[in-house]
Amino acid sequence: MSEWSRFDSITSADGVWLTDSWGHQMIDGVASMWCNVWGHSNPELIRAITQQAERLQHSSMFNMTHGPAEELAERLVEISPGMHRVMYSDNGSTAVEIALKMAVQYWSNSGQRDRNRIVSLEGGYHGDTLGAMSAGYVPEFFGSLGHYVPAGVAVPVPVRTDPRAPPQKEQMNSCLDRIDEELSRSDVAAIIMESGAQLAGGVRIYPKQFQREVSRLCRRNAVLLIVDEVATGFGRLGMMSPYHTLDSKPDIVTYGKMLTGGYLTMAATLATREVYDSFLGAYNEKRHLFHGHTYTGNPIAAAAAIKNLEMYQKYDLIRHVTRTAATLEEYKGRFSDIDIVGDVRCMGMLLGAELVSGRGDAAPICPATSINRIMYEAGKRRGVYLRTLGNIIMLVPPLAITKDELVMLLERTMQAVTDAKPALLACGPAQ
Ligand SMILES: Cc1ncc(COP(=O)(O)O)c(C=O)c1O
Repeated sequence: MSEWSRFDSITSADGVWLTDSWGHQMIDGVASMWCNVWGHSNPELIRAITQQAERLQHSSMFNMTHGPAEELAERLVEISPGMHRVMYSDNGSTAVEIALKMAVQYWSNSGQRDRNRIVSLEGGYHGDTLGAMSAGYVPEFFGSLGHYVPAGVAVPVPVRTDPRAPPQKEQMNSCLDRIDEELSRSDVAAIIMESGAQLAGGVRIYPKQFQREVSRLCRRNAVLLIVDEVATGFGRLGMMSPYHTLDSKPDIVTYGKMLTGGYLTMAATLATREVYDSFLGAYNEKRHLFHGHTYTGNPIAAAAAIKNLEMYQKYDLIRHVTRTAATLEEYKGRFSDIDIVGDVRCMGMLLGAELVSGRGDAAPICPATSINRIMYEAGKRRGVYLRTLGNIIMLVPPLAITKDELVMLLERTMQAVTDAKPALLACGPAQ
């Protein structure tokens, strides 16, 4: 915190452009923390939000319901093959907390209280609340609380960020063997994985068959599969429903971020009929899930989400993403030509470029001050909002970004990396 003496204040935004209190404009290369779909100030979304705000702003979902929450739940089930019921919450982390509680309680409701361990993937990230931290333990983020966070079990993932690693097929088989071994233990309730790719862990894209194979191992070992689509669902990877496209069959799915188009906070945890039914029973049996948040299922957020989903169809957004994604692919090579850029990975509307200490060097760059701050300042000077995670520059723009805007974002980002090179190479103490 002491490195950031003051933060820029964003006063308005339109389309992909953010404007700060000084009148400077930046392209939103982060989609306002990976959630913005249509750009800012979209009139259709604003209308849906204001119309709902005039009718019903909030009403508890404890013993009650309301139209927008019901309609949205129906739509979510429709676009989520295999899912039967929806539980709302406010953000991705709480959607994950609910998923973990559901998985463990599913087993206790089924008379197997000993099945209470959650397996996760190395490099996975699922949010900042305690359960989510335990299931997605990233030492760089949570290390100072490592003694407090309940320890989870993390299994390896076949992602090849190091060219010296074994070939992917070999690596995948060895990871799957290890996952199988872990899932065969009698105390495992579920495995949780981000769907399609790990984002916060450094844009680590799974090999094609990996998720399907994990799903198969879950069935074989009778372990629940939780897929976290908070960051990767709704088109970020060019797929509306990555779990379905990747041929995996989860028991529980989490959504957040882009659910409302990035305008209001809302998340959802979906479950299969079998999981849902295990919670049914007489009140005194205490089979129900004790979990509820004040703003659960907020009607204004639900109205935004309904409009957002309508717009996906109306504008054929996934097709737009797959088309503009070709431009990201084209720039991959140009990014790698910069001598402090190592591996570059992209999928859908997502690009991750590793910053390394020199050409042919896989060692992450290690400047004296935070990479994030250096790149933020360099991006700002070039008119682009950038945010790094570790030594990875991530481009996660609004999904509806046009090709011209995307090219501008990519060009400016490459200029910002080149500008920042002296500061990035000013080495700090070894970490
Ligand atoms: C895969 C995944 N799950 C969960 C979360 C947590 O979401 P939130 O920040 O809305 O709590 C994130 C956030 O980045 C995420 O990437």
